[in-house]
Amino acid sequence: MIDSYQQRAQARVDAALEPLFIAPHDELQQLYAAMRYSVMNGGKRVRPLLVYAACEALDGAAAQADAAACAVELIHAYSLVHDDLPAMDDDDLRRGQPTTHKAFDEASAILAGDALQSLAFEVLSASRGDPLDAATRLRMLGTLSRAAGPAGMVGGQAIDLAAVGRKLDQRALEQMHRHKTGALIEASVQLGALASGKADAASLDALQDYARAIGLAFQVQDDILDVESDTATLGKRQGADIARDKPTYPALLGMAAAKAYAQDLCAQALAALQPFGPRAEPLRELARYIVARRS
Ligand code: IPE
Ligand code: IPE
Ligand code: MG
Ligand code: MG
Ligand code: MG
Repeated sequence: MIDSYQQRAQARVDAALEPLFIAPHDELQQLYAAMRYSVMNGGKRVRPLLVYAACEALDGAAAQADAAACAVELIHAYSLVHDDLPAMDDDDLRRGQPTTHKAFDEASAILAGDALQSLAFEVLSASRGDPLDAATRLRMLGTLSRAAGPAGMVGGQAIDLAAVGRKLDQRALEQMHRHKTGALIEASVQLGALASGKADAASLDALQDYARAIGLAFQVQDDILDVESDTATLGKRQGADIARDKPTYPALLGMAAAKAYAQDLCAQALAALQPFGPRAEPLRELARYIVARRS
């Protein structure tokens, strides 16, 4: 079921993203081409999927979630472009293709990332006749900015870079993962719930518990795949963390304990969805997918 759900949601968000990369005039062709290259390149679209699935769990229509789905993927794509730069992880392969700074150049990659970040907020703030009230939209903007910024993803990236070659204990490693990857995943679920227009405090809290668990599980699995998968399947260099002496869960706990932890987090996520009925099935499937995925 997740396959067809995933395909439908991917097609949906891709159709909403595509028109964002038309350059308004000739001088901007190169910038827009680098932006498009960084987004329309076969990402799994897990964050947009979470937006749609959370909206659906609260009986919202998918059309209401399109702007938020685009916004989280734009932030994610920007974070990857910058993550791969020579000054950060220095990677040359992403989603099975040369990274943006390899396909273009470093300055273009920096600017494409900057542009994608701003575009995310523009898309989320544009009303285009949807029925959400201004207070809800403002709350969504606040949620995404916090998750993307210094108290979220960017903060996590800073912890990550500062930790290279050092030994983190489990608490510090968890803190890093919750920021660099968990924050945007949590925001994706909250945004989807808010986009439904039917979110109450209790369901937002339950969904936050779900998202905290899968947000951490996602990065634990990413660390596991860096060891266990292969470059062709991953679409990025296998072994990059080991080569750069990155702090990871398998390095800290050992592989068996890292896998057990991912499973435990998946179980926690499913338990948090207890109050929801069949409409939360896509969220349940996504939790299972996140710890079972091979790429
Ligand atoms: C990779 O994210 C970077 C992390 C936050 C771990 P994804 O595994 O979602 O990458 P894409 O979007 O499918 O390429
Ligand atoms: C990246 O973490 C998290 C981001 C905020 C982009 P990683 O550095 O582990 O992601 P990959 O493995 O390069 O995709
Ligand atoms: Mg990194
Ligand atoms: Mg990286
Ligand atoms: Mg990684």
